[in-house]
Amino acid sequence: MSVSQTQRVMTPVEVLGRKGGEPLVCLTAYTTPMARLMDGVVDIVLVGDSVGMVLHGLPSTLGVTLEMMIMHGRAVARGLSRSLLVIDMPFGSYEESPAQAFRNAARLISETGAAAVKLEGGVHMAETIAFLVARGIPVMGHVGLTPQAVNTLGGYKVQGRGSDGARIQADAEATAAAGAFSVVLEKVPASLADKISETIAIPTIGIGASVGCDGQVLVVDDMLGLFGDFLPKFVKRYAELGQTAREAIADYAAEVRGRAFPAAAHQFADSEKAAK
Ligand code: KIV
Repeated sequence: MSVSQTQRVMTPVEVLGRKGGEPLVCLTAYTTPMARLMDGVVDIVLVGDSVGMVLHGLPSTLGVTLEMMIMHGRAVARGLSRSLLVIDMPFGSYEESPAQAFRNAARLISETGAAAVKLEGGVHMAETIAFLVARGIPVMGHVGLTPQAVNTLGGYKVQGRGSDGARIQADAEATAAAGAFSVVLEKVPASLADKISETIAIPTIGIGASVGCDGQVLVVDDMLGLFGDFLPKFVKRYAELGQTAREAIADYAAEVRGRAFPAAAHQFADSEKAAK
């Protein structure tokens, strides 16, 4: 049977329909093997611009290009047949005008197979979100801590504490009113995330926000212990794969130096018969 007969493919419309329902599960992925591991297990796979820091060693997401996103988007698409694929618009690819945003979002969609784009910013990006949605491009918003604005925000700080909460609430409301099918709330107080989740009509997807959000997202390398010695408060480590890899690499190095690898089982005999 074909994939479409046996497996349900998640869509932006279905994500929207999950408002107030079963929590949405979202993880980032940047490669085909990682996408295969999570396909159908999570609802949404995000090719985040965090790829720049996680896989390319960049100090922030600001150096990520459209070409990098397209390359990783294609790789992830090859590993997915069920989860919804959403791809980040990188810094500088959408802020100038709705027309610039459409041109680059169309490339991301048509060249990768992603079904939707994510972009950062609330009130000031509402016109652009509406422009894209009206032209057939589903948009996931992203408000609160918006890492592409790290230089104007003065660092990766919690956003929306105290009276500043009204600004984030307005950003989330503008994103919803513009037609986004969901919105990421990053690093905002839990009480604010709960209030936003109760008042806007689209699913909120929290990262460093609240268990009361309509869904959660994490950077997969963070939660697997593959990235970063410094663990942000909002990340839970579900595995320590980095430590496991370090130990395996050290074992390999020791065995090569001690001539214990390759063993007979990993070598070839002179004839196939002798090998049996
Ligand atoms: O780039 C990214 O990975 C993100 C998520 C953390 C939401 O934007």
